[in-house]
Formats: sequence, structure tokens, C-alpha cells
Amino acid sequence: MGKSFVMLSVFFCFMVVAYSASNRSTSTVKTLAVSQCAACHSADGNSQNSLWPNIAGLNQVYLLKQLKDFKNSVRVNKDMERITKSLSLKDLTALSYFFSQQKIRSFVKPTKLFAKNDNIDLSLGEDIYTGKRIKYGIPACASCHGDKGQGGLDRKRGYIYPRLTNQHKSYSIKQLKLFRALLRSNDSPAMMRNIALMMDDEDIESVMAYVATFDSEEVKK
Ligand code: HEC
Ligand code: HEC
Repeated sequence: MGKSFVMLSVFFCFMVVAYSASNRSTSTVKTLAVSQCAACHSADGNSQNSLWPNIAGLNQVYLLKQLKDFKNSVRVNKDMERITKSLSLKDLTALSYFFSQQKIRSFVKPTKLFAKNDNIDLSLGEDIYTGKRIKYGIPACASCHGDKGQGGLDRKRGYIYPRLTNQHKSYSIKQLKLFRALLRSNDSPAMMRNIALMMDDEDIESVMAYVATFDSEEVKK
């Protein structure tokens, strides 16, 4: 009786300590997210301005890789380099976990985007995305980024394919053009650079317009 009471007390003390520790670290990473990231990406990673990518609910391994790449100047961006260099690897790991757990809030319904894309050839975009332009050297985006743009992981080879659905279209177009100009080169072994080099502006704009028709409800966590 005495022994089990002691055991129980020890158990409860442990629970209280464990709970307050996890609670403290969650509030610290939240404070960091608000003070360091919210101005551009918003506190929950759902950026409403297409200048800044949505980072809510992206794969944690992908997020951490990008943050490390910025910190090590492997991926170049003035703002992101300054911010990541001022934070520790521990902070970046906590932040990548925090943002990977945030729910996606979609601001634009896919149908609206569809209507906006009148002068864009969506069937060309679909052909590119699904691999019908392989004879021009453009492999199916779907084979890595998933048939709904949900992204994925190749555990065997250790590659991470980011989610494309619910990303701002103009941000994604900018990234493809950066890959093509070899100004973004953190896609070892040049996976995206090789693909982007095979695409002209019309290809890039059409494929991203096609991706913008994907339903973000389907990739929501
Ligand atoms: C001053 C604005 C600004 C702030 C503050 C900022 N970012 Fe960024 N972030 C950007 C911009 C701009 C890009 C896109 C860079 C590019 O075009 O390649 C970006 C890109 C990213 C990416 C890459 C997304 C992707 O899909 O590849 C991640 C991850 C990211 N930021 C996380 C963070 C985190 C975490 C913080 C806080 C520690 C933060 N950012 C603070 C402006 C900002
Ligand atoms: C062989 C696999 C593969 C194929 C095929 C592929 N991608 Fe990628 N893509 C990647 C990887 C890996 C990354 C992330 C690189 C990194 O670590 O930063 C990426 C990144 C991107 C990004 C930047 C995402 C962000 O959040 O910054 C865009 C946009 C993109 N791909 C679009 C496409 C399109 C459009 C196609 C088809 C024309 C395509 N990809 C085909 C592997 C692939």
C-alpha cells in the first residue's frame, strides 16, 4: 500500500514535470514563430501574400532541409539567410516541427483560379504534369510530387518531394525560373534544375496553373 502510494506520487510528479517541460517548449517555439517568422509567413505558416510561401503543413524533413540550406547559403535569399543565421540548429528544428504541424488554410478555391487562367493552356499544363511531354525531356511532375501535388518521400534514396498544392502560384513559378537560371541549386543532384532547363515560360506558367486547380482540401491535414 505504502509502496504503491510512493510509486503513484513519483508517477504524478513525473507527469507534472514532463507536461510543464513540453508545454514550455511549445510556447517558446510559438514565441519564436511569432517574433521571427510571422511578419512574412504569418504565425501559423499560412501566408496570405504570394511574396511569401505557405509553409503550413509542409513535411518537417523538407522544412528543416530548406532552413539549413538557407543558413549554409546553399539556397540563396537575403531575408531567409539573415534570419536562419541568427538562429541555432535547435531552434530551426523546433520551428520546422512547429510549422509542419500547422493546419493548411486555403484562401483561394481551385475553381476561382481556374476562371482566372483563361489565357493559360491548362491542357498543356496537364500534359506536362502527367508526363505526356517526356519526349521533350520533361518527366512527369506527378512521379515525384504526387498525382494531387501532395508531395512525398523516397525513403530508399532519401529524397523529399515538397507539396505543391496550395502553394502560391507565383511563388512556384518564381522557383522554377530560379532553378532554370541555376540561381536555386539546393536540389542535389540537380533534379529540378535539369527539368526546369527543358521548360520555356509558357510550359512553366501552364504547369503551375494546372497545379493551382488541385483541391487543397484533399491534401489538408
Ligand atoms: C522578411 C520576410 C521573411 C521572414 C521574417 C521569414 N521568411 Fe521564410 N521566406 C521568405 C521568402 C521571401 C521566402 C522565399 C525565398 C525564395 O524566393 O526562394 C521564404 C522561404 C521560406 C521557406 C522555404 C519554403 C519552401 O517551400 O521551400 C521556409 C521553410 C521558410 N521561409 C521558413 C521561415 C521561418 C521558419 C521563418 C522564421 C524563423 C521565416 N521563414 C521568416 C521571407 C521571410
Ligand atoms: C525526380 C523527382 C522530381 C520531379 C520529376 C519533379 N520534381 Fe519538383 N522538386 C523535386 C525536389 C527533390 C524538390 C526539392 C528540392 C529541394 O530540396 O529544395 C522539388 C522542388 C520543386 C519546386 C519548389 C517547391 C518549393 O516549395 O519551393 C517546384 C515549384 C517544383 N519542384 C515543381 C515541379 C514541376 C512543375 C515538375 C514537373 C515539370 C517537377 N517539379 C518535377 C523533385 C522533382
